Amino acid sequence: MTQDELKTLVGQAALQYVVAGEIVGVGTGSTVNKFIDALAAIKDRIPGAVSSSNASTERLRALGIAVFDANEVGDIPVYIDGADEIDGRGFMIKGGGAALTREKIVAAQSGRFVCIADESKQVQVLGRFPVPVEVVPMASARLVRQFAEMGGAAAVRRMPDGRPLVTDNGQHILDVSGLAISDPPGFEREVNQWPGVVTVGVFARQKAAVCLLATAAGVKTLAF
Ligand code: A5P
Repeated sequence: MTQDELKTLVGQAALQYVVAGEIVGVGTGSTVNKFIDALAAIKDRIPGAVSSSNASTERLRALGIAVFDANEVGDIPVYIDGADEIDGRGFMIKGGGAALTREKIVAAQSGRFVCIADESKQVQVLGRFPVPVEVVPMASARLVRQFAEMGGAAAVRRMPDGRPLVTDNGQHILDVSGLAISDPPGFEREVNQWPGVVTVGVFARQKAAVCLLATAAGVKTLAF
């Protein structure tokens, strides 16, 4: 099976976690796009979604699925999103698509995080994928130095034309490589405190409760 077919498989498998009559939290990325496409088939069973990015909002609306502001709704039972990496405890790296801040906000508002991924995302220790960190632009250079002190090489994410990528929240992204994150909760706590950090792309507090992992042999369900 191709990676695209594996993503379709978990996107469809995630439908079983959608609670009828309740709003669903929707993440961002190519795997979630498959989930959104599948969700269109059962859209009449839910009032709508809370979305974690402008890109997902557009896709949801184009398929006739109502999108609510996070402030308009209370607790959401389930949040469905992809990951750049997931370890054996359900801790994740996210933000490859630059949507990490809104993803963490919607995840925090949701009861259960259901991660959908193909098996290339499974790791023993987080950090092979550079950790995305959303930052206030004026703090970038200092934060690059702070990451260097902990052994990481941070770089501002750029557009093809060389300008810094600007997130949906008007901020920049640092991608930090060279870290082996053996203590994701400790790392998240530490970096969260650095002035200028908006969101760190290690999801330890908002970790996955379940991961639907697409493998050549079918969808594996991992519960944490
Ligand atoms: C978006 O900012 C990310 O957190 C995505 O969830 C992550 O990058 C996974 O995306 P794919 O499903 O495209 O691999």
